[in-house]
Amino acid sequence: MRRARELAEHGRYTAAPNPLVGAVVARDGSVIGEGWHARAGGEHAEIVALSGSGSAARGGELYVTLEPCNHQGKTPPCTDAILRAGVRRVVAGCLDPNPKMRGRSVDLLREAGVEVEVLDDGLFEKQNEQFLHLMVTGRPFVHVKLATTLDGRIAASGGESKWITGEAARERAHLLRAEAGAVLVGAGTVHADAPLLTPRGLPDEPPSVTRVILDPRLTIPTDARLVRTVDENPVVIFVSEDARADRADEFRSLGVEVVPAPLVSGELDLVFVLEELGRRGLRGLLVEGGGETVGRFVSRGLVNKMTLFYAPKVLGEGGISLMGSLKVAGMNEAPEFRVEAVEQVGEDVAVTLYPLESEEDLVHRAG
Ligand SMILES: NC(=O)c1ccc[n+]([C@@H]2O[C@H](COP(=O)([O-])OP(=O)(O)OC[C@H]3O[C@@H](n4cnc5c(N)ncnc54)[C@H](OP(=O)(O)O)[C@@H]3O)[C@@H](O)[C@H]2O)c1
Repeated sequence: MRRARELAEHGRYTAAPNPLVGAVVARDGSVIGEGWHARAGGEHAEIVALSGSGSAARGGELYVTLEPCNHQGKTPPCTDAILRAGVRRVVAGCLDPNPKMRGRSVDLLREAGVEVEVLDDGLFEKQNEQFLHLMVTGRPFVHVKLATTLDGRIAASGGESKWITGEAARERAHLLRAEAGAVLVGAGTVHADAPLLTPRGLPDEPPSVTRVILDPRLTIPTDARLVRTVDENPVVIFVSEDARADRADEFRSLGVEVVPAPLVSGELDLVFVLEELGRRGLRGLLVEGGGETVGRFVSRGLVNKMTLFYAPKVLGEGGISLMGSLKVAGMNEAPEFRVEAVEQVGEDVAVTLYPLESEEDLVHRAG
């Protein structure tokens, strides 16, 4: 299973929006086939591993990180291939929590006489945190990523943010875009930075990445760089219901999807935004800023993970704050995070955090 988990990692920056899956076929204690899921539409890990092992798989064992599929998607059901191959035993890292799926393949294989074990030990769930989150909640897993100075500034007073961090941290950010498969920023960032928001300079060809903009009044220019590249990587702009219809039509004629969203306390309803993106099958969403946007995600308890790249610099008063729109009255109301990892990346330091409180807790507290 350790080898299967390693193999699944090959798909980390290419498989979105599909899960990371690795598989090993073994016979008499020796590995006879290996595979991983490289990209959406490509062969599933089990199929690659079983074709590599050929007829020697009969009577053997299949180790796979996620419960095999039993439905016809872009590729045929893996359970059929497993039964055809005559595998004696299947060990799965975790169940696929898709309500339509959970445990179904396990039952089907057992009914056909295959011995099945599911480990469920947390390791495999962690590897697929984005996919599992989408399956359970119907929303993408929100990963916030920001480059900040030591004093929590993400841009200088004039809005300049190129570059706070060094090259190594910026390369890492491109990996995070590819991993998530979707990237979101507020309109302020499009105006200030004219970003492309695509993953670039990666060793393997990245998946197509959906660029998402929150722009209630539809202020970004129709010739923004990200609009000009809409053919390769889709663009979705969330606007308020009273955004100018003629501008929305202009964007639509350029191939951009413009989605009117309801307002909550005068702000675009982020739960609506996430549910819309979940309906499009997006399992990860890298929220890259700016401070206003990130502050709103944090204050609504909608952040699932956060990676902050700290540059050993300070910008002092006047610089743009890391979480501009977040207002916290006292210590007992401060959103709290658990530090998962601290790592030096080039001259900067990456801190990976998970929230201590879930959205449900915050809603409960607010109520
Ligand atoms: N260092 C970094 O990692 C990093 C990353 C990104 C950006 N930046 C810098 O940050 C600055 C921009 O940050 P910012 O805080 O000024 O702007 P921002 O967060 O990019 O955009 C803010 C705007 O987004 C819209 N918006 C976002 N969430 C919304 C919601 N829930 N409802 C309604 N509207 C929403 C609003 O538009 P309306 O005003 O139309 O209501 C809001 O004014 C730039 O200087 C940029 O260079 C730095």
